[in-house]
Amino acid sequence: MKLQPARGTRDIFGKEARRMAHVVQTFKRIGVTHGFEELSTPIFEFTDVFKRPLGEASDIVSKEMYTFQDRGGEDITLRPEFTAGVCRAFISNGMTQNLPCRFMSHGPAFRYERPQKGRYRQFHQLNAELLGPDTPEFDVDMIAFAAHILSDLGLSQRVTLNINTLGDGESRALYRENLVDYFKSHKNSLSDDSKERLTKNPLRILDSKSKDDQAIIAGAPKLSDHLNEKSCDFFARVKAGLDASSIAYTHNERLVRGMDYYNHTAFEFITTDLGAQGTVIGGGRYDGLIKQLGGTPTAGVGFAGGIERLAMLLTETPKAKRLTVLMPMGDAAMLVGFKVAENLRRAGIAVATDRSGNLTKRLNRASKKGASHVVIIGDNEITAQTAQVKTLDTGDQQDIAISRVADHIKFTSTGENP
Ligand code: HAM
Repeated sequence: MKLQPARGTRDIFGKEARRMAHVVQTFKRIGVTHGFEELSTPIFEFTDVFKRPLGEASDIVSKEMYTFQDRGGEDITLRPEFTAGVCRAFISNGMTQNLPCRFMSHGPAFRYERPQKGRYRQFHQLNAELLGPDTPEFDVDMIAFAAHILSDLGLSQRVTLNINTLGDGESRALYRENLVDYFKSHKNSLSDDSKERLTKNPLRILDSKSKDDQAIIAGAPKLSDHLNEKSCDFFARVKAGLDASSIAYTHNERLVRGMDYYNHTAFEFITTDLGAQGTVIGGGRYDGLIKQLGGTPTAGVGFAGGIERLAMLLTETPKAKRLTVLMPMGDAAMLVGFKVAENLRRAGIAVATDRSGNLTKRLNRASKKGASHVVIIGDNEITAQTAQVKTLDTGDQQDIAISRVADHIKFTSTGENP
């Protein structure tokens, strides 16, 4: 039996777990201030939920999904992202009558990618979707929400916001035609991947990392020259809203996102501090997705952030709460210890009980764990209704009435773990 986690998956604990928890807590706290409520969707869905909305020719659907038949013969996929599942839930639960809906979610997602720093096969996303409004000011609200998370995490100076417009369906259809004509005229010089995309998904050629393709891409027609008035106006209003909100951005005409469901606004917050995997938050508008899934046409805009990537960027690791270690010495003390531990925990103190070994061993273990206090209870203490409380940072040790132990610990606490 292999005892390693499967390639591209990891066990998360200690500092990394604390960093990731901090990212999630920050996201949820800010989400509440933007009017978002939590929605938790299943980790797997019927494959069709992802297949069409993300695009059959997209990298995710064609190469990266964990898809299998379950024992009942159902075609199942582990979610590669949240958006399609959130929209499916919106339809399944008949929420159409209650617009707008603001949903925030977080949890694991799965993509069969080549693992490297910041890129995993099981990774974690925070995700926010706003369903209902179809006007550009709401795109600004969502970008502001994402920017707010980054600023509360202390990352504003380390990311740049790239935005682009993919236009509406009409603009994209015209663009697609011209783009295909252009790439066809250079077909022989294109990489094999791009040749394949030419028929399936020509817009994705613009995203190609292949050296062969770069020169051809540089001369390609631009979507911005094909936008109809409505699309131009939409994008202008997004930019005006960002300016009014003092959110700095770069218009990156080459920004095309990895899923087919987007229209109008696409955006990414990118850092140069994580090597190749620099996108920490990505999102955009997807007005056709809910209709495509079979729901009443409903507009949507949202974003997702990579929790691992955000956690990696944090400059400080949140401190763990320091422990008080309770040490009952002897059988009678074991029983008294249950109540003492409960009372301390009710007072908000983090308590772990150490029940084995002599006192020296227990004290050594407590200081190794970075405990702030130890509370020792033996037969003498039971008779006197006291406990010996030792403050490990100072070495101070006192007999304290059991009813006062919590206050004493709080009074002598110096803060959190170093
Ligand atoms: P995405 O750009 O595919 O968008 O993913 C969002 C973020 O998830 C990325 O920017 C990155 O930080 C993180 N991420 C993606 N793949 C990996 C991986 N293999 N390992 C580690 N982190 C990863 C979406 O998923 C869209 N559903 C976002 C959205 C929501 N659009 C509208 N609403």
